[in-house]
Amino acid sequence: MTAFTLNGREVEVTAEPSTPLLWVIREQLKLTGTKFGCGVAQCGACTLHVDGEPVRACVFPLSGAEGRSVTTIEGLSEDGSHPVQQAWVELDVPQCGYCQSGQIMSAAALLARNPSPSDAEIDEAMHGNLCRCGTYMRIRAAIHRASEA
Ligand code: FES
Ligand code: FES
Repeated sequence: MTAFTLNGREVEVTAEPSTPLLWVIREQLKLTGTKFGCGVAQCGACTLHVDGEPVRACVFPLSGAEGRSVTTIEGLSEDGSHPVQQAWVELDVPQCGYCQSGQIMSAAALLARNPSPSDAEIDEAMHGNLCRCGTYMRIRAAIHRASEA
C-alpha cells in the first residue's frame, strides 16, 4: 500500500512500488489528463508535480510518491483559473492538445520558482517538453502573459 496526497485528497493504492506513477494515476485513479507519450522521460507529456517539482511520471516510481503531495493538471486549479491556464486560453496555445497538460505543468512549476522568467530561462525550463505541432512560440508568449498576471 502506498499513500500520498493527490490534488489535495489522501489516496491509498496497491501496486508494485516500481510501477510508474503515470499508470497509477491514469489506470487506478482514473485521472487521464496526464498523458503517455514516449515512456522514457524524453517528451514531457506525462509531467506532473511532486511536492511542487515537475517530474516525468512515466519513469517516476509509485514508491517515490509515498507521503508526498502529487498534483496533476486536474488539480492545478478547481476551475481552470490558474494564471497559466488562463494565459493558455487567451493565446490559443494548443493545437492538437496532446502535449499541453505536460507543457502547462512545466510552465506552472517554472513560474512558481521564477515569477518573471526571461526567454532563455523559459527555453531552459521547457526544453524537455516536446510539441509535435510546434506551438513553442505561443507557449513562450503564454508564459510571459501568465507571468504578468
Ligand atoms: S511519456 Fe513521460 S516523458 Fe514522454
Ligand atoms: S499541441 Fe499537438 S503535440 Fe503539442
